Amino acid sequence: MNDDTPDSAQELADVLQDVRRHLLWQEETAGRALLVDAKVAAELQQQRAAASSVRSMIARAKTPEPAAAPPPPRPPAESPSRDTLHAAMKQPLGAARPLAAAAPPAAAPRAPMAASRPLASEAPRAAPAAGMLLEVPPSAPRYNGALPGVVEGERPTLDQIRRELGDCRRCKLCTGRKNIVFGSGNPRADLVFVGEGPGENEDLQGVPFVGAAGDLLTKMIGAMGFTRNDVYIANVVKCRPPGNRNPEPDEIAACEPFLRSQLLALQPKVIVALGKFAAQTLLRDTTPITRMRGKWRQYEGIQLMPTFHPAYLLRNSAEKRKAWEDLQQVMKLFGKHPGSSA
Ligand code: URA
Repeated sequence: MNDDTPDSAQELADVLQDVRRHLLWQEETAGRALLVDAKVAAELQQQRAAASSVRSMIARAKTPEPAAAPPPPRPPAESPSRDTLHAAMKQPLGAARPLAAAAPPAAAPRAPMAASRPLASEAPRAAPAAGMLLEVPPSAPRYNGALPGVVEGERPTLDQIRRELGDCRRCKLCTGRKNIVFGSGNPRADLVFVGEGPGENEDLQGVPFVGAAGDLLTKMIGAMGFTRNDVYIANVVKCRPPGNRNPEPDEIAACEPFLRSQLLALQPKVIVALGKFAAQTLLRDTTPITRMRGKWRQYEGIQLMPTFHPAYLLRNSAEKRKAWEDLQQVMKLFGKHPGSSA
């Protein structure tokens, strides 16, 4: 009888350990698959402390930016005619599908991404469904809710975030880059486009979307009735992946906090996520872009429209029509209608 005791005790200890691991995993995974062992548990403890200090910092924040300067008046951008758009997108519009009849969630008044609003990372999270897990190599820096450039009690400015980024060496992309491509456009933009990462031209110039995909994006923006000076453009990773390969999970993890800080600084009305890396990273959702696109989502209280990446559209021009439908939904939110001068 006594012979059973050590085994039972061991068994009980094993079960308790499993339960503990499961609870930690549920609490902390936040869409990322983590191996929770004693070392990771200690790390999580540290992350909780960091997140909690960011939480209290943010809770103390008052009005995000001085009331001061109103946004510079936008040049009265003419809404594009269907012909303009047709030319811009190099894709006949034909009988465009009607816009979704239901008002998007965006029709609701925007809950601004104020520094006083809790970060998503703080919200209680359910354990992600198995299909939603993102694989993060153990060496990858993990986003723990701390936002770079966020000073206690203040909404960050883009300049603060850029300073914090510095001559970044946080991931291996730094070794091959010529320039960090931080982002460009109107710091008071209501509309933000998020791409994947710089290509060769962007790396050379330090400006996002200035190559072939950039030319198409510029046309898309124009077709929507905006100029590049009206909007802000950023990327998930700020350094060029060699040979234009996809950014890797550790690179995304290292750079993502800066993008999140930028969006906190900008607090746009709408984010257009260009392609799977932008959509999946911001939404922490591995649903393919083909299924995500065209449906309003929420990022930190901001309406987010996932759509195809311009580089993909250059290779698959038959998909431009769908992208245009997605952008039309965004235009609608800004009271812009294709073919009208509103
Ligand atoms: N593709 C992107 O995703 N970003 C750029 O800046 C350029 C091309």
